[in-house]
Amino acid sequence: MRRVALLLSALAFIGSGALVNAKDGPPAALPDLGAVHATRAELAAAQPVTAKHAMVVTAQHLATEIGVDILKKGGNAVDAAVAVGYALAVVHPCCGNIGGGGFMTLHLADGRNLFLDFREKAPLAATTTMFQDANGNVVPERSRSSWLAIGVPGTVMGLDEALTTYGTMSRAEVMAPAIALARKGFVLNASDAHILALRAKVFASQPNVAAIFLHPDGKPYSAGERLVQPALAKTLDLIARKGPDAFYKGPIARAIVAASQQGGGLFTMKDFADYSAPWSAPVTCRYHGYQVVSTPPPSSGGTTVCEILQIVAPYPFAKWGFGSTQVTHYLVEAERCAFADRNTYLGDPAFVTNPIAKLLSADHAAKIRSEIAPDRATPSSEVKGSLGADEGQHTTQYSIVDAQGNAVSVTYTINFFFGTGKIAGDTGFFLNNEMDDFTSKPGVANAFGLVQGKTNEIQPGKRPLSSMTPTIVLKSGKLFMVTGSPGGSTIISTTLESILNVVDFGMNMQQAVDAPRLHHQWLPDIVTVEPGYLSPKVKVALEGMGYTFRVHSPWGADEAILRNPATSLLEGANDNRRPSGLAAGY
Ligand code: GLY
Repeated sequence: MRRVALLLSALAFIGSGALVNAKDGPPAALPDLGAVHATRAELAAAQPVTAKHAMVVTAQHLATEIGVDILKKGGNAVDAAVAVGYALAVVHPCCGNIGGGGFMTLHLADGRNLFLDFREKAPLAATTTMFQDANGNVVPERSRSSWLAIGVPGTVMGLDEALTTYGTMSRAEVMAPAIALARKGFVLNASDAHILALRAKVFASQPNVAAIFLHPDGKPYSAGERLVQPALAKTLDLIARKGPDAFYKGPIARAIVAASQQGGGLFTMKDFADYSAPWSAPVTCRYHGYQVVSTPPPSSGGTTVCEILQIVAPYPFAKWGFGSTQVTHYLVEAERCAFADRNTYLGDPAFVTNPIAKLLSADHAAKIRSEIAPDRATPSSEVKGSLGADEGQHTTQYSIVDAQGNAVSVTYTINFFFGTGKIAGDTGFFLNNEMDDFTSKPGVANAFGLVQGKTNEIQPGKRPLSSMTPTIVLKSGKLFMVTGSPGGSTIISTTLESILNVVDFGMNMQQAVDAPRLHHQWLPDIVTVEPGYLSPKVKVALEGMGYTFRVHSPWGADEAILRNPATSLLEGANDNRRPSGLAAGY
């Protein structure tokens, strides 16, 4: 009953969706996918897929089915996660990848919480100013679409590390479905075809890419057509037989290094041979009786989500309601401060000291709360990293729970849709442009508009700070939720809001991921909202307090799972912004 009452009060605040008044177009890194936001009635009626034993949710239905098959054959959540990781590289090539990197957060049935870092690394010849011209001006093209933009990919090492440490099946078994899909092809639906068409011009500029992703007459593939990727099948087959050495020490590394050197990049074989995917302890925090288990640096996500939760915890969000003036005000102020800290203090832990304990302390949260005025927006120009003087769509999410109680949350990425848009020779897979996540120059925004500092400057062998936030929420030590999203800097607010929507606003998992979103990242000092987030009354009230809003087409794709304590059923929710996705279980 409490959940229903909370939900009704939440829905009362959801606006009509007619408030599109954007002056600014979407940032290059967050393209309009043509997704439609849920109306108030649709949101009220939204129901998750339920299953008793196990659940897989991904942004592409064929990958979900592969994950469920692996679980039904007796594989565990890690086996399924590796199979899904390779399958998405075939059927969701914008984002699923072997040419990028990511993070995996795990909650094992025995209670252990783990984090695996397979983020890309800067080449050893990288320099702090490599994306600046002779006058010190940042040249965005260099960090986004040139061969310099590519970090050493981590996905193959990460998936293999997870499989050999916690999986039960062989590499050949978990990779076989992806290899078959690449070799025989798969039929594109409208959403798959729409995403491919987004970068058709980039594909057309390179013969080896056009040969795979465009028809001979240069036209993009349409819904109903079969996309076959024999070169990718060959690469995957090599990895299945020879393991990560094929990628990091063998012919695949050689192909990437050769293409990089020919195209003006910096890669050498040593960059690949040196790559590793380390385990570390997740960042954890408590919120309203739940334990949030999330990503440590080089992800900024877990720290920033937890900092925001610590700041907002004492406010009566449940009473105020989703989308209310008060919730929006205090959430934006908390996001503003936490992003200022993110951009000032965090970086690759192999290179900088991350003050996580201080950022997540009760004192720090109290100090920030004491500086938030109840009736006015704080200009971001008045907010700095708040520990004192400074010392010093893209991506895809999938979530899996198995019948034993193991849970895996993975976000991995090649940064932009299709990364650089480049493929090395006949390897058949896209290479990332993750180097743009570094600070090209302190104070200059990256593609996601993030204005970052020295802790995230480029150094040889360093991992760029990420916003990816694959997260698991526990209640009394038991699995409660698996969540995360693509969306660059908006990943953090999307993940955070999925937790608030369930914990504070009483939504079911489907409603929590479909509900309209809000995002603030300190700079630029604009509150970005999806259509439908703001009711006219709330908008007027908040503008009176000094807020500037930008309504942006829907973003993110939270592929989430909830273990409903009332029914013990798993609730799977594919984000309605990715119609090709699927939640399925048994
Ligand atoms: N490439 C986006 C991120 O990792 O934050």
